[in-house]
Amino acid sequence: MASILRSEVQAERHVLAPRLSVVIPTFNEFSNIAPLVEAVRGVLGDLPWEMIVVDDDSRDGTYDEVLRIAQTEPRLRCLRRIGRRGLSSAVTEGVLAANGDVIAVMDADFQHDETKLPIMYHRLLDEDADLVVGTRYAGDGSVGDWDATRARMSDLATRLSRRLTGYQATDPVSGFFLIRRAVFVSTLYGLSQQGYKILIDILTSATHKLKVIEVPYIFRNRAQGESKISLMVVAEFAFLLIDKVTRGWIPPRFVLFAGVGGLGLLVHLAVLFSGARGGMNFIHAQALATYTSMIFNYVINNEFTYRDRRLVGLNFVRGLALFIIICSIGAIANVGVAELVISRTQSWTIAGIGGALMGAVFNFGAASSIVWGQHKRRRAGAPK
Ligand code: GDD
Ligand code: MN
Repeated sequence: MASILRSEVQAERHVLAPRLSVVIPTFNEFSNIAPLVEAVRGVLGDLPWEMIVVDDDSRDGTYDEVLRIAQTEPRLRCLRRIGRRGLSSAVTEGVLAANGDVIAVMDADFQHDETKLPIMYHRLLDEDADLVVGTRYAGDGSVGDWDATRARMSDLATRLSRRLTGYQATDPVSGFFLIRRAVFVSTLYGLSQQGYKILIDILTSATHKLKVIEVPYIFRNRAQGESKISLMVVAEFAFLLIDKVTRGWIPPRFVLFAGVGGLGLLVHLAVLFSGARGGMNFIHAQALATYTSMIFNYVINNEFTYRDRRLVGLNFVRGLALFIIICSIGAIANVGVAELVISRTQSWTIAGIGGALMGAVFNFGAASSIVWGQHKRRRAGAPK
């Protein structure tokens, strides 16, 4: 017994604390995990490392696969989140669980060039940098072969993000970077954690000017599985931009909700006037316009503003009915406030805006909790 203990203690002495913690966010990456661990093991060699996979309860068994591999690779572990989605928050939680002083953040699907990890690590230490970003837009970096739409979307996102982050990096939307853990931790309370773009979040939340180095790499095609790029990613990007521009004062979802409401107003007017032109009387045309714009608002909000909680099938129909009820109550609140304001100020403009704002806030609050509330959800959905 004593001898077993002694040998265990001796063995432990040889286990080095990790210097580099590789954080990998995953959602349905089953078939990439084993090759990824193999590749990282190969490129990092003797450097003491650990890998933390942060999995949002993937349905394809990613978590079980990590556990299986961890039986023979103790440097690997999985943080499994239930009922949660989001790349940025996954990365943040992975970093908080990491033991290394330096963190690498990388995708699971081999689009990021893992062979750059040692260069990035050594440059971070040698040049005393805070952050080393893998970039597709400098030196011999590139985005590989993308179709025109994706290239254009990415180009727009990159240009907006460069401006937002004060041109500190050529590729601020990169999900491939190394950072000192202490630097990441110092940004924690400023992070928005919305959506996909954790690097933008870090750059705009840093408490001092960061020393950033860039290492070019070529963005590969995804090895296995499917990309999660979708309308959801666009919505999430909009969330992050709004959150950063309003400095967290206005909920991004409300800005989108109100924006959709603005579009809904245009739909309303279009239906109203075509109804009038088609010979309908005002009340009928107004009623038709009201319901059309409610349905329009519902569909667009379901597709975009609440994409992460999108309702389908029977829930879609139930949600629509609830949405119409809520908007009707919102209209009463709208008129009530407008009446109150006009009795005090006599200004149609102020009363109109006040009423509309009241209606929008009411609709938003009620819709967020009742139509798209997250109660009863047992498993994080897979928004596409
Ligand atoms: N935990 C968790 N939760 N992981 C997620 C989620 C999520 O909700 N969504 C995606 N992931 C994981 C994926 O499994 C993958 O490992 C990584 O995050 C990136 O997801 P992809 O779906 O492969 O993203 P992409 O290829 O569209 O985007 C890549 O390019 C962007 C730049 O254009 C990513 O590298 C981004 O980080 C990068 O900003
Ligand atoms: Mn990818």
